[in-house]
Amino acid sequence: LFSGRVEFLLSAPQLKFLPDPTVPEIAFCGRSNVGKSSLLNALTGRKAIARASVTPGRTQELNFFEVGEPTLFRLVDMPGYGFAKAPVKVVERWKNLVKSYLRGRQVLARNLVLVDSRHGLKEVDREMMRMLDEAAVGYRIVLTKADKIKASDLERVANSVADEARKHPAAFPELHLTSAEKGMGIAALRAAVVADALG
Ligand code: GTP
Ligand code: MG
Repeated sequence: LFSGRVEFLLSAPQLKFLPDPTVPEIAFCGRSNVGKSSLLNALTGRKAIARASVTPGRTQELNFFEVGEPTLFRLVDMPGYGFAKAPVKVVERWKNLVKSYLRGRQVLARNLVLVDSRHGLKEVDREMMRMLDEAAVGYRIVLTKADKIKASDLERVANSVADEARKHPAAFPELHLTSAEKGMGIAALRAAVVADALG
C-alpha cells in the first residue's frame, strides 16, 4: 500500500481548513522534536514527504498526506507540544488546534503518541494521553530514536512506559519500539497502521 501513492494533500493552520472527512485518518502526536515527521517519512518510505528538522517546532500546522489510489486513508503530521521556546500565544494556538482536531474529528481512526526512547514519558505526554482517554480515541505509544540508546536502557524505559500505559484506558498495552533512522520496528508499525485505518 505504502509503495503505491502517498501524496501531500494540504496543511491546515486552523480548523476551518481541514479537508472533508471522507476517509479514515491516523494522527501522529508527540513532543516537539520527538520524530513525528521522520517516522511518517520512514513509514511511507519517502525520504522527505513530511518536513523533518533539527529545529524544534518545525511542524506548525496539521499536515495531511493521502495514501492509496483512490485514497484509502490519510496520515496527519501534527505540530509538537511542549516546545518551551515558542511564544505563549503560538503554543496556545497549536494546543487548541490539536485538541479540537483530536476531540472532534469523526474520521480519526487511531493516534500514534510518540515518545523519545531516551526520555520516557514527560508530563506533557501524560496530559496528551489523558486528553485522548477522555476523547476515547485509541492510541499506540511509539518509542522513537531507539538507535540512540543502549539496549538495556531501552528495555528499562520501555518497561516503565508500558507500566504507565496500562493505566490509560485508551492506550494500547503493547508499545512499538522504533528507529526511523535505522528502520527498526517500521514494518510492524506500518502493518498496524494499515490495519487501524482499514480495519
Ligand atoms: P516538530 O515538527 O518540531 O514537532 O518535530 P518532529 O517531532 O516532527 O521531529 P523530526 O521528525 O523533525 O525530528 C527531529 C530530529 O530528530 C531530526 O534531527 C531528526 O533527524 C531526528 N530523528 C528523528 N527520528 C530519529 C531516529 O529514529 N533516530 C535518530 N538518531 N534521529 C532521529
Ligand atoms: Mg514535525
